[in-house]
Amino acid sequence: MTPLACDYALEVVNLNKAFDGLTVTQNVSLAIRPGERRLIIGPNGAGKTTLFNQISGDMRPTSGQVKLFGTDVTLFAPYKRAHLGLSRTYQIITLFSGDTLEHNVTLGLLGLRSSRWQMWRPLSFYGDIATEARRTLDAVGLLHLAQHPVSDIAYGEKRRVELAMALAQKPRVLLLDEPLAGLSNTERSQVKSLIASIPRETTVIMIEHDMDTALDLAETVTLLNYGRVIVDGQRDAVIADERTRELYLGA
Ligand SMILES: Nc1ncnc2c1ncn2[C@@H]1O[C@H](COP(=O)(O)OP(=O)(O)OP(=O)(O)O)[C@@H](O)[C@H]1O
Ligand SMILES: [Mg+2]
Repeated sequence: MTPLACDYALEVVNLNKAFDGLTVTQNVSLAIRPGERRLIIGPNGAGKTTLFNQISGDMRPTSGQVKLFGTDVTLFAPYKRAHLGLSRTYQIITLFSGDTLEHNVTLGLLGLRSSRWQMWRPLSFYGDIATEARRTLDAVGLLHLAQHPVSDIAYGEKRRVELAMALAQKPRVLLLDEPLAGLSNTERSQVKSLIASIPRETTVIMIEHDMDTALDLAETVTLLNYGRVIVDGQRDAVIADERTRELYLGA
């Protein structure tokens, strides 16, 4: 890889998205360096999740570009972006509730690896995935629940399974959409430690409303409002900015 290609882990260039005449992403540009911890904040409906959907490929922008490590992925399907090292969690839990934790994690890992060239791998390869799924659950303290259906476990545990699945893919860029939402104080500190322990090889971009916890994890912050970037920069400067106080922090 050339040094030039590594300047930014993720670049978003003049991104626009409209639904039925309603513009929810307006000329958004972001440049996020490898290893950076970026927090995205903004009022409800500001377009934060919609921005993630366009970065992950779940949604096609109306115009603009998304680049991963210098590669223009704007027209790439989500799985192709995953192969370049992008992984995400969703604001709404997307696990199969009737299925066991272990099976959910195994399917998640298989999904990542389901490209044509990997279909020719020996069957023993899939044994490795089951082992990896158990290791993943162990890493978030949920191995004892591996054989339980997802419907049996608590909400906070489901969020940890989702985060574990995303981390098991050893992503180079990880998008977290409100990883702390709906968690108890204990679960919140568990998930906070888990996020804090993510290695620097992974760039972390997180949407979160819980400022007390999220600001400790962030180095840089982007404030979105009505689909636009209003303030963008080092954490303390963005938090001290009058516009952030007026539009988001309510001070
Ligand atoms: N598929 C869609 N079709 C039409 N409008 C949509 C669609 N998805 C999102 N929107 C609209 O886009 C706007 C931004 O929504 P989005 O979910 O991105 O906000 P958000 O910043 O993530 O909010 P929250 O903090 O509540 O999660 C909202 O007005 C929403 O109704
Ligand atoms: Mg959202």
